[in-house]
Amino acid sequence: MKKNEIYNLDIIDCGSNFEGISKYEGIVTFIPGAIIGENVNAKVIKVTSSYAILKLEKILKESKYRVKTFCDVGNVCGGCQATNIEYDFQLIQKKNMVKVSLDKQKVEYEKINNTFGMGMPYYYRNKVQYPVREINGKNIIGFYRKNSHDIVENKCCYIQNRVIDILAKNIFDELIKLKFNGYNEKNGSGDIRHIVIRRGYHTEEIMIIVVVNNKKLLDDLRFNQFVINIVKNNTNISSIFLNLNDMNTNVILGDKLKKIYGKDYISDFIGDYEFYISPKSFFQVNTIQAEVLYNVLKTELCLDKTDILFDLYSGVGTIGIFLSQYVNKVYGIEIEQSAVEMANLNIKKNNVKNAEYIAGSVEDKIEEFKKRNINPDVIVVDPPRKGLDDKSIKYIIDFAPKKIGYVSCNYSTMSRDLKKLSDIYSVKSITPVDMFPHTSHVECVAVMTLKNNI
Ligand SMILES: C[S@@+](CC[C@H](N)C(=O)[O-])C[C@H]1O[C@@H](n2cnc3c(N)ncnc32)[C@H](O)[C@@H]1O
Repeated sequence: MKKNEIYNLDIIDCGSNFEGISKYEGIVTFIPGAIIGENVNAKVIKVTSSYAILKLEKILKESKYRVKTFCDVGNVCGGCQATNIEYDFQLIQKKNMVKVSLDKQKVEYEKINNTFGMGMPYYYRNKVQYPVREINGKNIIGFYRKNSHDIVENKCCYIQNRVIDILAKNIFDELIKLKFNGYNEKNGSGDIRHIVIRRGYHTEEIMIIVVVNNKKLLDDLRFNQFVINIVKNNTNISSIFLNLNDMNTNVILGDKLKKIYGKDYISDFIGDYEFYISPKSFFQVNTIQAEVLYNVLKTELCLDKTDILFDLYSGVGTIGIFLSQYVNKVYGIEIEQSAVEMANLNIKKNNVKNAEYIAGSVEDKIEEFKKRNINPDVIVVDPPRKGLDDKSIKYIIDFAPKKIGYVSCNYSTMSRDLKKLSDIYSVKSITPVDMFPHTSHVECVAVMTLKNNI
């Protein structure tokens, strides 16, 4: 293959980012935008001895899975990868992506279930995070363009909750009226870096976080007027925070928070339980599917009323509290101090008498349980995208619980970790849950049991 030349290709597979895959003289080619079953003309952008990346030029034969994209910026925005692929087929492909990853790591498993999808896979995100930028003297709000830090302006995002999507644009207009500027990524100047909004799906409570670029802005009096203007038009706003992020980083929130209106937290329900959520605590972005996810975990784990359960990487205690009625006792560990404060409030709020949450990293704190002679029957882990570190895996193997529930938003690191545990654990089931329709992401629940001969 030669760079800049156009090739005619049959799309025979789907990649982990929903890109079309073809083969040409032994070279695997990736063509974003092309769909399995299509015949396309595509131009080579990059070529190595084993693979090539091509730009889709023309579709000569369309896939039966192709649909008209519902999004005005579906082809340029980096948020979604599959707005032009039939939803049922997305679910089949997500299961395949998980399978390919397990096979790559040579993980053996008894069964992989079909992906649990959504009935109405739109407007599902309960949290928006919009970058605000000043580019060539113009302030804009939008999403990052695919593979870049350019901003794509967008009037409506079909995967965000509609109320907070519209509110984000109103907040942006208010801030600009008050003469704040967007952040300039090139020279680090400007006032506002991000507008973050969370909304309780069931409670409809709203929390706003305005991320500012320098310390002085935390005391800027214009924010008094901002609060008045925003609250007067939106009755469901429970809480407004300023957050300082003056670092040269892609991370959205900095450490320092200042509350300028309302309560310290909002709440939402998962199943029968109500959970308080603070600005910096993790909460699943798709509340409906979070309930599906936790029910899958409950069903596949087959818990016993005598079980001691560890809820590791516990956030605000959602999994442990959700499962608390099926076990004897829950112990949780979470690194974010404010999330642990919420978990302890959540225990009280839900009248859960058999759960305890401690703050710290799993790798440092899990030993405490050993010292206290607390031995789990079941360990549930729900780590961040990078998965488990070797120290935590060693502790888990040392505890040798009879079951492990592995919840993951990254099937690659999950597959790697399942392999590491496979000497003494068998994988009973894997269940993908579509927490993020129209994107290439998928959540997974894996359940492992201790091998008999151990
Ligand atoms: C994917 S979230 C899961 C939270 C929770 N289980 C839920 O379902 O809402 C991962 C959590 O792990 C926490 N975390 C990250 N690294 C950690 C570590 N080394 N030890 C303990 N918690 C950690 C994060 O703060 C976050 O709350």
